[in-house]
Amino acid sequence: MSLEKIIYKKNNDLSKKIDKQKVPEHVAIIMDGNGRWATKKGLPRSFGHNKGVSVLKEIIKVSKKLGCKVLTVYAFSTENWTRPTKEVDFLINLFTEVLKNEIEEIHQELIKIKFIGDLTPFPENLKKIIFSSESLTKNNKNFLLNICVNYGGRQEIVKVAQKLALKSISGEIKPSEVNEELFNSELLTQGINDPELLIRTSGEKRISNFLLWQLAYSEIYISEVLWPDFNENEFLKAIIDYQSRNRRFGGIESLPNQSFKDSYFSP
Ligand code: IPE
Ligand code: IPE
Ligand code: MG
Repeated sequence: MSLEKIIYKKNNDLSKKIDKQKVPEHVAIIMDGNGRWATKKGLPRSFGHNKGVSVLKEIIKVSKKLGCKVLTVYAFSTENWTRPTKEVDFLINLFTEVLKNEIEEIHQELIKIKFIGDLTPFPENLKKIIFSSESLTKNNKNFLLNICVNYGGRQEIVKVAQKLALKSISGEIKPSEVNEELFNSELLTQGINDPELLIRTSGEKRISNFLLWQLAYSEIYISEVLWPDFNENEFLKAIIDYQSRNRRFGGIESLPNQSFKDSYFSP
């Protein structure tokens, strides 16, 4: 049997185990391990980041095919600025080039793309392509792809606190009106249900400042596989594992999935 046929059979066997009624609508991924993948092969870390992009393209296709509606990926954290300038510059250039090259196909696939994070420090050419990509795809309704860049969960929460404090001082709201719903509505992810599933690759067992508010009750799946080696098969394994969980939300019985929100696709 050819390698392609073996991979096809393996994926096919795994997809048969998936309950189509229990596919998570929103999956978040910490795409980790690019550098280690490259170093292990005796290559510069940048090779890992390049390979990571092709894996992301595959996982977008797979999750969409499976019936997920939202994918939120961590591409650059507020802490990643501490890396050597050469690596940071490489990543910024990579985001710019990939977006330029892929946006047409993303749009054809009716994917809405959204960038989550503080874009201020990025160069003008990257900001320009980000804004034009968001604007081009804003009415697409098949799938939502959130890319978190210069994103930090704590920073996001602090920003919300500042906004609510200002609204309170100006008299727009009363301090007593601050509740979870209001707080949620000021987050960068406003309008989107929390991820049911968080996947982190490369075996690290930490959140690294990702979606601190939104992950409160997400199921966590740690894959030992480094992100550049992650693939359809590994994604299906994560979904199967997720489907075996009892999501009790503090109660005694397992609760069904939250329902899908149309508001994901409001421009
Ligand atoms: C994840 O891979 C990608 C980014 C953080 C941009 P890493 O670059 O963190 O790779 P490792 O974890 O050092 O192997
Ligand atoms: C998290 O990975 C950030 C991204 C994947 C973009 P890191 O490699 O930066 O996280 P740590 O350093 O292992 O916590
Ligand atoms: Mg890492």
